[in-house]
Amino acid sequence: MATNPNLLEIRNLSLNFGGIGALNKVDLNVKRGLLFSLIGPNGAGKTSLVNCISKFYIPKSGKISFNGRDITSIASHDVVRCGISRTFQNIELFKEMTVLDNIKLGRHIHLRSGPISGILYWGKAKKEEKELEELLAREILSFLDLSSYKNRVVGTLSYGLQKRVDLARALACKPELLILDEPVAGMNREETKDMIDHVLQIKKSWGLTVFLIEHDMEIVMNISDWIAVMNFGEKMAEGTAAEVQKNPEVIRIYLGKQCQQ
Ligand SMILES: Nc1ncnc2c1ncn2[C@@H]1O[C@H](COP(=O)(O)OP(=O)(O)O)[C@@H](O)[C@H]1O
Ligand SMILES: [Mg+2]
Repeated sequence: MATNPNLLEIRNLSLNFGGIGALNKVDLNVKRGLLFSLIGPNGAGKTSLVNCISKFYIPKSGKISFNGRDITSIASHDVVRCGISRTFQNIELFKEMTVLDNIKLGRHIHLRSGPISGILYWGKAKKEEKELEELLAREILSFLDLSSYKNRVVGTLSYGLQKRVDLARALACKPELLILDEPVAGMNREETKDMIDHVLQIKKSWGLTVFLIEHDMEIVMNISDWIAVMNFGEKMAEGTAAEVQKNPEVIRIYLGKQCQQ
């Protein structure tokens, strides 16, 4: 039997907030090993869709499958366990802890059941598991050029570095699918380039599948293997960068935006 090329499949996904539709019958396929980008104006429903995958939001209807398994109704921590990790639009790190501890504790919390179990576990971690975590943290730190910051308190680092620590935390869960929600928002040019280079390097070396939500069209068009466009909670186009750029509906949305004062 041929292997399904789709790592993530979303079918007919709808989500409402108090009767107002945020997602309307969205279908998406994310192919294994590719960099998939989801674009669209503010309020289009991109983060809501990712929140449905992460189980922060419960969809009204539809189905989400990962690796051929129906994950529509699994618990949030099981999403991470089955191989889906994400970074957040707003950094969610322990600002008073070191980089290394954030990565290790982050991995534990996201792979287990919740913050309380994470803290209880902290004192009685098994030796082997500790060693594995150390190795993982060291490998990820060197990969993301964070080694020299490993004992720094996260809150004292620049915004760009904190975003990179959040990426390290997501990678420590050893995901097959890495979801990045606006990873370069608020970054300067240099930080943006650093982040994108790191993401591309990880994708290549680790063979990860990347699901990117990004506003910067130049970045999206340059690095994506496949792009889906959302507007008002619906998928309105998809294709390669060349195809999407030629799509009249997409041009209308984006040119329309530029024309607004
Ligand atoms: N927790 C929520 N409660 C109510 N409405 C929400 C919530 N989250 C998102 N929305 C609404 O859903 C729509 C899509 O938002 P969002 O997914 O954040 O868009 P995007 O990420 O594309 O900018 C918006 O109209 C937004 O106001
Ligand atoms: Mg968003």
